[in-house]
Amino acid sequence: MKSSFRHRVLGIESSCDEMAAAVVRSPGELLSSVVHGQNEVHRPYGGVVPELASRDHVRAVSQVVEAALVEAGLETSQLDGIAVTAGPGLVGSLLVGLSFGKALAYRLELPLVGVHHLVGHLVAAELSDAELVAPYVGLVVSGGHTALYRVEEEGPPRLLGETRDDAVGESFDKVAKLLGLEYPGGPAISQAAQEGDPSAVRFPRPMEKQPGLDFSYSGLKTAVAVELERRGGLAALGRREVSDLAASFEAAATDSLVLKARRALRGEGISRIAVVGGVAANRRLRERMRQAGEKEGFRVVFPPTELCTDNAAMIAAAGARLLARGERDALELNAFSRVPVGETPWRRGASGGPAGEGA
Ligand code: KG4
Ligand code: ZN
Repeated sequence: MKSSFRHRVLGIESSCDEMAAAVVRSPGELLSSVVHGQNEVHRPYGGVVPELASRDHVRAVSQVVEAALVEAGLETSQLDGIAVTAGPGLVGSLLVGLSFGKALAYRLELPLVGVHHLVGHLVAAELSDAELVAPYVGLVVSGGHTALYRVEEEGPPRLLGETRDDAVGESFDKVAKLLGLEYPGGPAISQAAQEGDPSAVRFPRPMEKQPGLDFSYSGLKTAVAVELERRGGLAALGRREVSDLAASFEAAATDSLVLKARRALRGEGISRIAVVGGVAANRRLRERMRQAGEKEGFRVVFPPTELCTDNAAMIAAAGARLLARGERDALELNAFSRVPVGETPWRRGASGGPAGEGA
């Protein structure tokens, strides 16, 4: 093992249906970022099929890592550390990136560190905006997560509230399927919504009346299904009606994110928020959150789209920080499907079982 850590970190991310690799020079200079998506693989099924995802990762991993090194203009011998997503995510998918990262760390005798996927998403915001300083509120909105955190300079982010059922991105994907729109549903709904009237149907704003900072999205999806049924099913709808339903759903889904974000900022006495994860690419969410920020005096940070959706730049950057602090993981490092932010069950000596036990 090299004695000193010199700060060029390769990150590998494969927690869901993207195989990604990136190189950063710490603290936050991005040298390369390559993402290989699988939308075509999963489109016929309207959602991610885990078995197909991990098979495609196996095919892609070495080429993606190679491409990230070429883009950075580096040889493997010029790397100083390796960071891999260890959880949460689909275990079969996680294991592909993890095994590759471990093998590389072993062969190159480099320090290795496991990164929490959601911590990576939060670091993406800091990577994109040097003025985002802790403490701030982090809103993570993706296909698997909907949660608010208080991010401090030191220590793990503190969970303030999260979804009790579906994630917001999952609800975009499921409602898109109901409306006969393409997978992935987020961009498809967003596009259809541009031609629709967001006030055509007043869908419920989930958890609007309840105190606290939790979210719920399965009821909203059901409300869209009921409205669709009431109108005689999808076959009876014209393009305009589909657009109206998409716009009305999008309005309800994003309004409740803005509502809870404002509540969190007030409650914590904080005036900075970072919105990260795939759904942060949503145009209406960006507009509404910015408007609320201007009105109520809080600063809103949205990373560029390529840093919002799953990528390895965020993993490399988060890993570089951990490595710089002297954190290391052993080659026994394992993948975990469910991991609360702040926990590292993959760390040697930490409590936790083998792959998937956190599920
Ligand atoms: O962060 P991400 O790439 O992967 C996960 O970790 O889940 O997020 C993917 C999710 C999908 O549910 C997708 O439909 C949603 O983000 N998404 C969007 C938009 N672009 C992607 N949702 C709403 N509006 C968008 N423009
Ligand atoms: Zn993600």
